[in-house]
Amino acid sequence: MMMGDSQTLASAGLHRVLKEALTQALSESPHEKAPGHYALQGDDIFMNVMQFATQPSGDKKAELHEQYIDIQLLLSGEERIHYGVAGSALGCEEKHVEEDYQLCAQIADEQVVTLRPGMFAVFFPGEPHKPGCMVTSPQEIKKVVIKVNINTLTPPSP
Ligand code: CU
Repeated sequence: MMMGDSQTLASAGLHRVLKEALTQALSESPHEKAPGHYALQGDDIFMNVMQFATQPSGDKKAELHEQYIDIQLLLSGEERIHYGVAGSALGCEEKHVEEDYQLCAQIADEQVVTLRPGMFAVFFPGEPHKPGCMVTSPQEIKKVVIKVNINTLTPPSP
């Protein structure tokens, strides 16, 4: 997990591909877009704009991916994301390979980050995360999740 603020993106220490994906997503004015799926670089990098109400963390399950990195960027409202290090997911359900996700009941040694508008959190494959949790009470939020295929960070072998 890495985090930062889009105002100080250069200082976040992100891999070049992730920084470029975030810059490209921001240049498309996600604030103004309707919820939905938007391609940035074909199937390798795309973004999902979402608008929904946050919920108590106990009402939600954690998610896990194998192929795509998530950059979770909050656009408006406030949101908590519960998360854990790679390998900390417990009670996982069956894998949805096509959609690249798996739901898990629990996160061992769970951590919490609170996002304000403009802040982002990056989750790598294997790191469980439970986005969309409320801070003090349920609240409407708008956010964008930029999905980056892990293969785009690795140069093709010669
Ligand atoms: Cu995710």
